[in-house]
Amino acid sequence: MKKYGVALIGCGQMGAVHLEQIYYKQNVSIRCVCDHDRSRAEDFARRFHAERVETDADACIQRDDVDVVIIATYPSSHLPLLKCCIQNHKHVICEKPIASTKEDGEEFIRLIKEHPECKVLVGLILRHNETYRKVAQMIQEGAIGSPIVMRMSQNHHTKNWGRYLSLIQETSPIIDCGVHYLDVMRWVTGAEITSVNGVSARTEMDVPEGHYNYGMITVTLSDGSVGFYEAGWSNTLSSENFKEFSGPRGTIRIVFAKDRHTHQEEGDLIEYYQYPEQEYHMINLDSCRKPTHLQFDYLVKMIEENAPAFPSVDDVEKSFYWTMQADQIIAPKKNVF
Ligand SMILES: NC(=O)c1ccc[n+]([C@@H]2O[C@H](COP(=O)([O-])OP(=O)(O)OC[C@H]3O[C@@H](n4cnc5c(N)ncnc54)[C@H](O)[C@@H]3O)[C@@H](O)[C@H]2O)c1
Repeated sequence: MKKYGVALIGCGQMGAVHLEQIYYKQNVSIRCVCDHDRSRAEDFARRFHAERVETDADACIQRDDVDVVIIATYPSSHLPLLKCCIQNHKHVICEKPIASTKEDGEEFIRLIKEHPECKVLVGLILRHNETYRKVAQMIQEGAIGSPIVMRMSQNHHTKNWGRYLSLIQETSPIIDCGVHYLDVMRWVTGAEITSVNGVSARTEMDVPEGHYNYGMITVTLSDGSVGFYEAGWSNTLSSENFKEFSGPRGTIRIVFAKDRHTHQEEGDLIEYYQYPEQEYHMINLDSCRKPTHLQFDYLVKMIEENAPAFPSVDDVEKSFYWTMQADQIIAPKKNVF
């Protein structure tokens, strides 16, 4: 079995989710952890038995004993880090969104296409989540008929407002996770997005001008399906996370373990209402919310078996493009009279 030398750039929240689920794997050696903040990298080195600590990402990527680089930094750094990985012939798992501007995103996609020798998997993690995979399969097999209505909400009530304020300078609430959910809309329907629209609001006084902390976008697809995605970060909105798919033959709703008072041990459940039978079914897949280990296994499949990327580069490009379009439409305009 080949052992992969892994480097992690970005020892924050998502970096931990990556390493927690792969550091013990037989085919993984954590060679290097890197963060601008040395104390964070040192903490990760202790937790995940990394061999080396770096504060300079390029030095980490250039190491000969590194085969795979996991990029878990903010979006504006993804493109320069990807460039360095490609120059040094490394395979990559890069967190979404791929970039913080449309132009950088386009270059990111172009580089992946021009360098098939470097396998790049973008962290649209729901593609590897068993619950979403089951939902996609059920919808594609006609469980709820077509066209469908997709209702998706992801609001964060925060007690750590400072973190969200700095994130807002980099990316908007709609772009941050919208790339996941616009991808889900295309994936489950197998249809193309044909238009987006929406609204935004700036309900916190310290959100900089030109930015917003609440957005709601509407999406239409080529098969007649429609959807909305709502995302807000604020001190006052209620936290909410619902994902529902309804069609002429039924409804599928994901019932998240953290939102239930009972059966917590069951993981996320799929509630399936079948019409006209008027029957309810509960499906339990004991799913892991962010299965970064399965994502890593898939990258290995791309390296060893030349498997195509999942999601494909085309999928990544389209969800990014439409999310950026929506963001551009709803972002508050300066000096509009
Ligand atoms: N897939 C998901 O479900 C999911 C969930 C949360 C976050 N994310 C994504 O993961 C990425 C990171 O988000 P996070 O919440 O972990 O952020 P975070 O602030 O918790 O961590 C980012 C870390 O990267 C470090 N860093 C930034 N730029 C660096 C650089 N050039 N070199 C070295 N270190 C650098 C920072 O010091 C920080 O410690 C973002 O793109 C975010 O959208 C994905």
